[in-house]
Amino acid sequence: MPYAHITGWGMSVPEAVLTNDDISKMVETNDAWIRERTGIQERHIARDDQFPSTLGVAASIKALKIANLRPTDLDLIICSTSSPEYIFPATACLIQDQLGATKAGAFDLLAACTGFIYALNMAAQAIRSGSIKNALVIGSETLSRFVNWKDRNTCILFGDGAGAFVLQASEQPGGVLSAVMHSDGSGGDLLTIAGGGSRYPSTESTVLDGKHYIQMDGNEVFRFATRVMASATEEVLACAGLTIDQVNWIVPHQANIRIIKAAARGLKLPMERFIVNLERYGNTSTASIPMAMVEALEKGQIKPGEKIVMVGFGAGLTWGALAAEWTGPIPSKGHVRPEQYRFFARLRSVVRRAIRFIEGLLYRREL
Ligand code: UT7
Repeated sequence: MPYAHITGWGMSVPEAVLTNDDISKMVETNDAWIRERTGIQERHIARDDQFPSTLGVAASIKALKIANLRPTDLDLIICSTSSPEYIFPATACLIQDQLGATKAGAFDLLAACTGFIYALNMAAQAIRSGSIKNALVIGSETLSRFVNWKDRNTCILFGDGAGAFVLQASEQPGGVLSAVMHSDGSGGDLLTIAGGGSRYPSTESTVLDGKHYIQMDGNEVFRFATRVMASATEEVLACAGLTIDQVNWIVPHQANIRIIKAAARGLKLPMERFIVNLERYGNTSTASIPMAMVEALEKGQIKPGEKIVMVGFGAGLTWGALAAEWTGPIPSKGHVRPEQYRFFARLRSVVRRAIRFIEGLLYRREL
């Protein structure tokens, strides 16, 4: 049975930064309150021409470069997002087209902030089963588009960004060791974007009611999060046959520093064992775990052979954890430049659209 190794990683955030002071000009809040109650200092906000696919493609190219893999080597692309570009087509397909990943199946996965863990697990299971060899997993969000900038309960929290991992099959033991996924739909109403779906299709009245905005019961989500972070970590370790002492790093969903501290207390671990970067990005939902991982890897914090647990929670309600042994890229020959494929991907996309148009004309004439 092949093992599923994480062999490439990358992240991308929009350039524009929104500080706590900037937000205090929009709603009644202040920098001290936001820092103390959340740990967040600033977040990045997408421009009007930046979308989950834009950020996702940039993160993916970096991940493919590290893995030394061509987009055409990919068998599967999973994009985890709660702020997809459209209801359909899937953001994963937009990324597939922009990368030129011509042989990959592509789909979106929605498990809110836990999505990246779910998606990694799905890709790892597909590799472990032997059905695929190379997968790309992306967590990408532009949740700022759904933030009500008049609601101080939510607008202080969220930021935009993307993280991507390449997973590859290898006979060498290691990589993804175990994963647990949980849900409790009875808490679905605690964190929602209700408008624009088939229950509340967008109308003038849904917009006037603000149904297209994120609605959250912050206290209840907080209470749920502090309950599940430690328990999911313990559960995933038990599945992997590991003890907490054997784990080098915990990479938690970056929602609120107080939630992470509560998890540390629950696990009786010092905060030094937790990877935290929420002060600079806020809560980027499903992108937060891969973005924290990428920064830690770039700083040389996480080293080959070390064991990590990624753990998250979010709307749904969903929560889950994944344990992995870090190995890094699989040594390979040659030097792939995935960014060069972007030009050919664009060309291919335009040519395919043109062919489809001409074929359509001919077909209609035949009728
Ligand atoms: O990915 C999952 C996404 N969601 C989360 O992770 C959210 C989890 N929840 C939280 O992070 C926290 O509940 C919040 C940060 C949203 C709120 O923090 P809190 O410590 O739970 O504050 P609270 O809602 O209990 O409010 C305490 C006080 C209230 O004033 P009173 O009633 O005590 O006078 C609020 O009106 O703070 C007030 N308040 C604020 N004050 C300044 C609430 N938001 C703000 C604000 N600035 N932005």
